[in-house]
Amino acid sequence: MIHAPILVLPPNTAGCKPALLSFGDSHRSHESYPSHSPARSRHATHSFPRASSFSPASTIGAFRLDVPLPDAISSVTAMRIDILSLFPQITDAMLGESIMKRAQENGLFSLQSHNIRDWSQDKHRTVDDAPYGGGQGMVIKCDPVFAAIESLKTPESRVIFMSPSGKRFTQGVAREYADTQKHLIILCGHYEGIDQRIIDHLVDEELSIGDYVLTNGALAAAVVVDAIVRLLPGVLGHDLSAVEESFVSGHLEGPQFTRPPEFRGWKVPDILLSGNHGAIAKWRKEQGLEKTRQVRPDLLT
Ligand SMILES: C[S@@+](CC[C@H](N)C(=O)[O-])C[C@H]1O[C@@H](n2cnc3c(N)ncnc32)[C@H](O)[C@@H]1O
Repeated sequence: MIHAPILVLPPNTAGCKPALLSFGDSHRSHESYPSHSPARSRHATHSFPRASSFSPASTIGAFRLDVPLPDAISSVTAMRIDILSLFPQITDAMLGESIMKRAQENGLFSLQSHNIRDWSQDKHRTVDDAPYGGGQGMVIKCDPVFAAIESLKTPESRVIFMSPSGKRFTQGVAREYADTQKHLIILCGHYEGIDQRIIDHLVDEELSIGDYVLTNGALAAAVVVDAIVRLLPGVLGHDLSAVEESFVSGHLEGPQFTRPPEFRGWKVPDILLSGNHGAIAKWRKEQGLEKTRQVRPDLLT
């Protein structure tokens, strides 16, 4: 059993000694950002370390690992996520509770919510301007966004722009990001959108969370981050939770029940009280398939 949030271990650890690790003050230290970045401004309220800042020599909060470890851990890594928006307080609030909060505190991922205005060069901290060719609303300008992303970007970064006209974000996309990416920079639009040159020259992928239009991308970014992070090793208490759920096997999850066995005359299905785990698994799958046939038949084609 693992008692510490280090689940990303180097391969080929067989035969190595069991070890004790402890996490110290570095667990609360700041990320190292390029010196010209205002990332730690008053708008960047969260500041969590990457797992690589864990130190076996630290003294606070010892966690015991009952897993074999090599003498030196050289490549413990956690996902880092930077969100750029005009409302960093939205993503901080939405991703600062419950499982997401614990995952950050345990160093399983680090989150920085930034305000694009912090990279504006003019005294009014302007970030938008009227669209060329006329039309409604305002468009986010190139210069603060280029300055922001260029200061945060590393060779491992993937830059995402949240957009209703992006690729549909699905459970499959979330899984791919969780399995392959180390650093996400998520850019959020507001007003009418952003200058196309940002998309053409900075963005690796545009993602949409559905066929509707929100007022700003921070809400969409929080959805994307939550869906990806919960798939990272160690984030969910029970890693099977992310395997036995809707979309993973191409269908929806069936109904769930808890105590009491009867409420206002409505009984829990007998099969769930039978203790026959094989029969229960079969029943659950059938129920999930039936629900999918009723509400999302497109998933079965
Ligand atoms: C009011 S919307 C802009 C909509 C844009 N004028 C259009 O018609 O596509 C402002 C911002 O919210 C975000 N947004 C809105 N709906 C979204 C969705 N379904 N998925 C992802 N981001 C969305 C994007 O970042 C977008 O730039």
